[in-house]
Amino acid sequence: MTHTRPTPDDTHALLSEGDVNFTPERAAFAADFVTGATRELLAEDAEVFLHQSLSTPCLNALSGAEGAWITDLEGRRYLDFHGNNVHQTGFAHPDIVAAVKRQLDELSFCTRRYTCEPAVALAKRLRDCAPAGLTRVLFAPGGTSAIGMALKLARVATGRFKFVSMWDAFHGASLDAISVGGEAVFRKNIGPLLPGCEHVPPPEPHGCPFRCGASCTLACADYIDYVLSKEGDVAAVIAETVRCTPFIPPKDYWQRVQAACDRHGALLILDEIPVGLGRTGRMFACEHYGIVPDMLVLGKGLGGGIMPLAALLAKEELNVAAHTALGHYTHEKNPVACAAGLATLEVIEKENLVARAEELGNLALSRMRELAVKHPLITEIRGLGLLMGLVLRRADGSPAMEEAERVMYACLRRGLNFKITMGCILTLTPALVLTEEELMLAFGILDEALTEVKARASGSKDETLS
Ligand SMILES: Cc1ncc(COP(=O)(O)O)c(C=O)c1O
Repeated sequence: MTHTRPTPDDTHALLSEGDVNFTPERAAFAADFVTGATRELLAEDAEVFLHQSLSTPCLNALSGAEGAWITDLEGRRYLDFHGNNVHQTGFAHPDIVAAVKRQLDELSFCTRRYTCEPAVALAKRLRDCAPAGLTRVLFAPGGTSAIGMALKLARVATGRFKFVSMWDAFHGASLDAISVGGEAVFRKNIGPLLPGCEHVPPPEPHGCPFRCGASCTLACADYIDYVLSKEGDVAAVIAETVRCTPFIPPKDYWQRVQAACDRHGALLILDEIPVGLGRTGRMFACEHYGIVPDMLVLGKGLGGGIMPLAALLAKEELNVAAHTALGHYTHEKNPVACAAGLATLEVIEKENLVARAEELGNLALSRMRELAVKHPLITEIRGLGLLMGLVLRRADGSPAMEEAERVMYACLRRGLNFKITMGCILTLTPALVLTEEELMLAFGILDEALTEVKARASGSKDETLS
């Protein structure tokens, strides 16, 4: 494995989901931070697994995960501000672990064509807490599969095959999901993809082709209306409701897009796989926008950070595919996963995690504002509940990609884990069970790391001058 800074051609492809696993910064981190048994395990991992962008070879190895924290093989602890967004309830929540253990003793699998109590109970509970009108449920073993079911249902229900989705979006890594996804690292050199997938710009003012300036003017929402009218036969618009990587749409955005969908007979599918179930300070992110989509896709934290589980929620009138297999997944009614899901929803309610995400998110916003005053590298802060992002740009406005990596590795050395998205956004998504002290600890670490990176940059400038 060679470590090289991405060429300008690679850079576009790497402005995506996560930080890059083959840069000189990664190599330097690996050389002095990864030691002993971890080094051996990483070498074995790299020897046995297929290598792929973003994740393999790996960064480090874990031996523990509990609450808001993870522990590596060397016993070092990190506040996990990434957690793959499965950790709304924190890792290894005792109630969820107990529910999983109980279920293992009762019924550990449900053969297809049979149902089981945990599956029905979870579906009913989801329906009760979902936005009004989303009455039908189908489970899948992962978010990507649930997205696939949503796309198929939209085709069956409308008799149309086209989709409108967004550049820079992520809906999973399978061929159907990357067809509506918008990140080059998943799409490049892998086609042909699904026909009829049209992409539009996301509501992200930076680099927006409509040149709306510092804040979104909703020209991009009007453009969706334009595309839907030109195509005339689009089955659905599919998008992530909010995304720190890179956008939190303005207040009126979704109402305008939904009105356009209604005008042109297209369904609206919202992907809340990483952001649903409380992360944004509402149970579902679409609640911030006062809309109910035709389909809502959930995943990740639904399995309590223990079991793989995702769900498609749909309006009653979309129960029209009785003669088509939408999912048919072997684990679609897995009782252990469903028991984990039920316990997760109970913990979210019992521990008031939705309100907590809002409260801690507000606190985090004020701390991020202070950091931005102190560190000019932070040019923008983003936050909705505990979905947060710090955008790093240089004085000339270019993305501070190397600096972002240096900050990330400096944070890892101090016990804070997060990922970088779009090359220059420090993307921060902690467990919702985080304490205020832990939140402050994390921002203290970020502050120190930003100071260190600034000092290193001015040190190297001085060297150049002398
Ligand atoms: C917005 C979004 N959609 C879909 C997916 C795919 O989910 P999974 O990895 O469970 O298949 C992800 C995963 O990161 C995601 O963030």
